[in-house]
Amino acid sequence: MAEKPHPSTAGYAEEADDLLVRYEKMQFAEIYERVQNLFPHAPGRVLDIGAGTGRDAAGFVELGYTVTAVEPVAEMREGAKRLHPSPDIEWIDDHLPGLSRIAYRKGQYDIVILSAVWMHLDAAERATALPIIAALMKPGAVLVMSLRHGPVPEGRRMFDVSAEETNLLAVKEGLEPCFERHSGSREALNKAAGVTWTRLAFLKRA
Ligand SMILES: C[S@@+](CC[C@H](N)C(=O)[O-])C[C@H]1O[C@@H](n2cnc3c(N)ncnc32)[C@H](O)[C@@H]1O
Repeated sequence: MAEKPHPSTAGYAEEADDLLVRYEKMQFAEIYERVQNLFPHAPGRVLDIGAGTGRDAAGFVELGYTVTAVEPVAEMREGAKRLHPSPDIEWIDDHLPGLSRIAYRKGQYDIVILSAVWMHLDAAERATALPIIAALMKPGAVLVMSLRHGPVPEGRRMFDVSAEETNLLAVKEGLEPCFERHSGSREALNKAAGVTWTRLAFLKRA
């Protein structure tokens, strides 16, 4: 029997066709321009959790990394594979908070990306997920996250998230905050809705 989707994915299957166009309009180079200097040099392994259309996974492959792209929504995952067919992207059907299919890969990743995903988890799920994510990182690895603030689109499940809470959870797991920036949205629909973002990066102490 098929596994029930995690409630955090509400709305994505239904909107996948639109989102596969919309998210691809954002530019990888612009999204990561301010944190790219923190990335360990390629080659290396990237874990993109909630990888969506594969835009960022493909961007990292261009830079010389190999990528594990975790995406729980089949409609997004299959569309992403069509948009970015690459032998250097491994697509995995898994989800936070437990990442049960990859949690055993401890200490394997140089870069972990959580772009516009964290607000889909409630506070208890976030507290469960952070130690699992930190354990997947190599010493010296970098975690980059973007936190969404603002109105929740109809049919989606989102919670308030803050830099303060995220920093506390990360520090407990030996992750050192090394970047924090608050900004408006570049993406047209989010910009019109008044959505803002906090971008954070953390370094796992060697
Ligand atoms: C706003 S989209 C962001 C997609 C991509 N990271 C980007 O920046 O364009 C959020 C993504 O997180 C995925 N997602 C939702 N709940 C998740 C969970 N519990 N674990 C992993 N991914 C999840 C959704 O299916 C969706 O693809």
